[in-house]
Amino acid sequence: ESTLGAAAAQSGRYFGTAIAANRLSDSTYATIAAREFDSVTAENEMKIDATQPQRGQFNFTAADRVYNWAVQNGKQVRGHTLAWHSQQPGWMQSLSGSALRQAMIDHINGVMSHYKGRIAQWDVVNEAFADGSSGARRDSNLQRTGNDWIEVAFRTARAADPSAKLCYNDYNVEDWTWAKTQAMYAMVRDFKQRGVPIDCVGFQSHFNSGSPYNSNFRTTLQNFAALGVDVAITELDIQGAPASTYANVVNDCLAVSRCLGITVWGVRDSDSWRSEHTPLLFNNDGSKKPAYTAVLNAL
Ligand code: XIL
Repeated sequence: ESTLGAAAAQSGRYFGTAIAANRLSDSTYATIAAREFDSVTAENEMKIDATQPQRGQFNFTAADRVYNWAVQNGKQVRGHTLAWHSQQPGWMQSLSGSALRQAMIDHINGVMSHYKGRIAQWDVVNEAFADGSSGARRDSNLQRTGNDWIEVAFRTARAADPSAKLCYNDYNVEDWTWAKTQAMYAMVRDFKQRGVPIDCVGFQSHFNSGSPYNSNFRTTLQNFAALGVDVAITELDIQGAPASTYANVVNDCLAVSRCLGITVWGVRDSDSWRSEHTPLLFNNDGSKKPAYTAVLNAL
């Protein structure tokens, strides 16, 4: 196959990218994105601050620009993200307790109803666990509304759009030996046992010298899949973009039948949120990097 999306489709998977609405007018960017990828995640445009800048006033202008571009170009869309401690609008940051809990529920309902039936996967909750060895939840205004905020978010999401796969998404959960991975695993196992509606787990996979790729990533994906959820690699970028590491990540996904697909977090290095890491598959001039070829060959 000659593109990442077509190559991934040979095994029933997708290969996606994050898209930034304000880059779609860049023809090099839009040409590569349209050609290579068959799934799209809005890099920022579906986040809470973007979609509900004032309480009760939803704005889907930028989100729809990404969404409509994706669909017009034949791509599926991963929704990102509905409940998160970061990129909250000011009005939400200042809420707490039952008012914040209700605002979270209202936000999930507002955004999911706008896209009802049109989103393949939603990252319902993002980054709820703490880094380090504690295995604890991250402290946040949402966490302080009560430990059940995550399951309330998932139950709300299932009712709002029964057709979307509902994912929990996090970073530093790729290495099976990390406490954060084990904490996320215990939560998903508990949700499955108690019937909390969760369909998938997203592994952001921002690999760098501080949190490097480890070959036990495949074990992690397999162990989560064995709980009865799908898994996905949702925000892949790798410091320095070593071709061999990119190939390893692809092979890890392909080894797990419940691995739905892979999304890289941007197109060219210059589009990356960590551009100094040159972590992506395309050079700034749009040419393909060695990592691109390694991924294509592995798929
Ligand atoms: C990042 C975007 O890439 C940046 O443009 C923005 O300034 C901050 O957020 N985990 C996530 C993503 O779930 O939403 C983040 O995206 C990267 C880390």
